[in-house]
Amino acid sequence: MTASVSALRPVPNPLEKRLITIASGKGGVGKTWLAISLAHALSRRGRAVLLFDGDLGLANVDIQLGLSPTTDLADVMSGRAQLANAVTRYDDEAARSAGFDVIAGRSGAGSLIGMGRDALIGLRQNLVASAERYDDVLLDLGAGIEQPVAILAHHGGRCLVVVTPEPTAITDAYAFIKLRRMRDATADIRIVVNQASTRREGEQTYETLSKACASFLKFTPALAGIIRRDTKVKDAIRAQTSLLVRHPECPAAQDVEALAANLIKN
Ligand SMILES: Nc1ncnc2c1ncn2[C@@H]1O[C@H](COP(=O)(O)OP(=O)(O)O)[C@@H](O)[C@H]1O
Ligand SMILES: [Mg+2]
Repeated sequence: MTASVSALRPVPNPLEKRLITIASGKGGVGKTWLAISLAHALSRRGRAVLLFDGDLGLANVDIQLGLSPTTDLADVMSGRAQLANAVTRYDDEAARSAGFDVIAGRSGAGSLIGMGRDALIGLRQNLVASAERYDDVLLDLGAGIEQPVAILAHHGGRCLVVVTPEPTAITDAYAFIKLRRMRDATADIRIVVNQASTRREGEQTYETLSKACASFLKFTPALAGIIRRDTKVKDAIRAQTSLLVRHPECPAAQDVEALAANLIKN
């Protein structure tokens, strides 16, 4: 094992169990949208939720939600703010008890794009510590399988790998899972199939990916959920509103609710 890989080994901290990474390998599969919708669905079930925008170069959680953060991750990394004070609240006007905290990123901020290994590990530790105040801490990661993604995903919590029925999304998800398991053979990885035209198509996508994992990695990731492709998703993103507020009854919203229920149960 190389020094850099062993340095990635997590410190055993029970708070890590509260972390949920949303990763994929491929970009554009719906990670950010899913992270937001899932944060919202969990909060509607009474959970205290923090959503962290970990797409360091191209942050857009705040844009999709129509938030105007006054402090963000760039302020934290430059030492101008503490992580706990860099939180922006998303209030759910439809369900007054719901809502969640967001740590926004900053698109195009050189200080975030160029973050080194130690800074990334420090940031991850900071997030684990902040889990003290929450039931669930969701990490929306960027695409790719490079160092920033690998370091932020490296913790003892759950990792949801988002995949779509496209062959390139499946191969990229597989590559992500392979690297994550190489670094940590106990990593809790689960699959979310997004943009499935039918549940059957979603199941087939899961089977293709899980069979590849079983034969080559000797590991079968669980299926966490299937989210159907739904035109209402684009509509909600354009309106910069959570889907669960704008179209609470649509198929994709129902599927996200089912995913949230599954995560609370398991
Ligand atoms: N279930 C879905 N149904 C329809 N369109 C979707 C769905 N999920 C995601 N999308 C589309 O995919 C686009 C990319 O989503 P985004 O969350 O930004 O992806 P990522 O964060 O993985 O790059 C969204 O703008 C949306 O139009
Ligand atoms: Mg994204």
